[in-house]
Amino acid sequence: MSTERTLVLVKPDGVQRGLVAEVIGRFERRGLHLVAMRMLLMDRSLAERHYAEHVGKPFFEGLVAFITSAPVVAMVWEAPGAVALVRSVMGATDPKNSAPGTIRGDLAVSIGANVVHGSDSPGRAVEEISLFFEPGALVEWTSAAQDWVVSS
Ligand code: RTP
Ligand code: MG
Repeated sequence: MSTERTLVLVKPDGVQRGLVAEVIGRFERRGLHLVAMRMLLMDRSLAERHYAEHVGKPFFEGLVAFITSAPVVAMVWEAPGAVALVRSVMGATDPKNSAPGTIRGDLAVSIGANVVHGSDSPGRAVEEISLFFEPGALVEWTSAAQDWVVSS
């Protein structure tokens, strides 16, 4: 399976509850590589582009109000099959249905405040990453760190 990149957001509830490190740790321990990260307050324009598929749905206005209410942490994670891997680590959208052991299954009770976002297809991942990051903001991993010797 080819290497893939996907967008993850720690949503405002996750940031406010101090769960940023918890979310990052779960993806790191699973083995994905973090290749970009930034903290920002989303505005309505960005929220509408990010959640374009939900425009007009009954929950859309509440969703936009929530996602723009406080800062989020945006990240790009890389792995073979990263989109599906991230979705499995996140768990089902509605925490009532999220399996224990997933982020939402362990840490959320509300479908609105469900801690994380992850892109739902490789195509959307490409589009969503471009909404949050310039191409140059994504780093390439190398093995250099393992070979480093600091001389005095
Ligand atoms: P996300 O996009 O945030 O990663 O979540 P998701 O793919 O698991 O779910 P999606 O269907 O894309 O819905 C986006 C977010 O909208 C809220 N939602 N509320 N009240 C409702 O019926 C309802 N349905 C969805 C959730 O916060 C969901 O994460
Ligand atoms: Mg979604």
